[in-house]
Amino acid sequence: MKQKVKIVIDGKSIELPVLESTEGLNVVDVRGLINEGMFTYDPGFLSTASCDSKVTYIDGDKGILLYRGYPIEQLAEHSSHLEVSFLLLHGELPTSRELNAFESSINENMKLDEHFKKIFDGFTSNSHPMAMVCAATAGLAALNHDNLDISDSEYRLNAATQLIAKIPTITAMAYRKSVGKPFIEPSADLSYAENFLHMCFGEPRSKPKVSKTLSSALDKIFILHADHEQNASTSTVRMAGSTECNPFAAIAAGTAALWGPSHGGANEAVLDMLIEIGEEAKIDAYVEKAKDKDDPFKLMGFGHRVYKNFDPRATVMQSSAHAVLEEQGAGDDPLLAVAQKLEKIAREQNYFVERKLYPNIDFYSGITLKAMGIPVPMFTAIFTLGRMPGWITHWTEMVSSPFKIARPRQLYLGSQSRDYVNINQR
Ligand code: SDX
Repeated sequence: MKQKVKIVIDGKSIELPVLESTEGLNVVDVRGLINEGMFTYDPGFLSTASCDSKVTYIDGDKGILLYRGYPIEQLAEHSSHLEVSFLLLHGELPTSRELNAFESSINENMKLDEHFKKIFDGFTSNSHPMAMVCAATAGLAALNHDNLDISDSEYRLNAATQLIAKIPTITAMAYRKSVGKPFIEPSADLSYAENFLHMCFGEPRSKPKVSKTLSSALDKIFILHADHEQNASTSTVRMAGSTECNPFAAIAAGTAALWGPSHGGANEAVLDMLIEIGEEAKIDAYVEKAKDKDDPFKLMGFGHRVYKNFDPRATVMQSSAHAVLEEQGAGDDPLLAVAQKLEKIAREQNYFVERKLYPNIDFYSGITLKAMGIPVPMFTAIFTLGRMPGWITHWTEMVSSPFKIARPRQLYLGSQSRDYVNINQR
């Protein structure tokens, strides 16, 4: 029997259908409310489902994260970022033949045309890498607009391939620009993460030399960031894409949203915070600031809209952080000591326990990236690189079936209608 909920509006009883999920919460379908002269109100969308989706499932209370049904812990241990990208895009794990073909198509499309690289001439070594990545991603729309047809599955698949293939090259170029070094071309002989590290840290005309430990740790970081349901940046991609705009422009919008310190910019903010705290002796004062309602300071890397338990990605990140620190001989990094003390405090002190503020993915990813020699301003660009397959999968899922332009309403609290007053009467 189909579930329904009943509400009474001005004495009239209204029945609203309940739509059932395959996992997690069901939803009340409120689309009929407008006919009853009423909106729902939910700033920040704490209890609003903006769409239906088959891509990713999160259970925030149990700390569960599934990509197309597969637990993130298993994918992080056994899979690769490109295999996860195929899984997200197509809904199933690839056969070895499918994976080889996908890896080749990505590798073949990593290069950027010489004239396109000039987009970076508009920046200086002081330009924030996220500004460069955002601009270059939007710039890809110029190379993929004449044939724009979002109803064509071939166009959609090509857009996904171009974005997944070119985001490492764009990100590496942003890094090379920020350190004033010449660009390095991708190599046909390297894996996805190896190519990224080579394009960042390689030398022109020299044989690639990439650490397997670092490239596998980085590939795992990409997997952990690949998708996360309807977070702010993915919702931005969906909202922009709902106007039928060029998908590369919609992805650039998502990149801009990710940059904020409350979202993907948190990994950079975590390192800035750890560096500002600097030593264990100063931690207590900062923890008090975080608790103080009148102080805007928050413990970056803690808390999450959905996870009210440990972020399963943070658990995986924590172990790979230790492995990278050991390999880099930075196991005694004072910032790691500060991080570990903060985590202990958050597990014990009431303020954090009551509000279920656990470390999230950004807490440990920053420490790992720093140990890998990646400069702090590049951290969110790395998050962008990892999240690319998730964004383009959600865009594809939305535009491949009937969709409506996203157009929320509001609770109006402004002036009621009033007549214009001539300036000499004001
Ligand atoms: C990501 O959505 C996703 O899936 C995002 C993401 C993804 O993969 O796409 O997981 C990636 O963005 C992770 C989150 C990274 N951001 C940070 O680490 C920044 C620090 N965290 C906070 O800004 C905050 O926790 C948010 C933004 C993550 C969540 O904010 P909410 O859900 O709106 O919660 P809230 O601000 O209403 O906080 C509830 C309470 C408040 O106290 P009270 O008013 O109840 O007394 O908890 C407090 C907040 O003041 N609080 C914090 C805190 N986070 C929340 N207090 C101190 N430090 C913090 N970090």
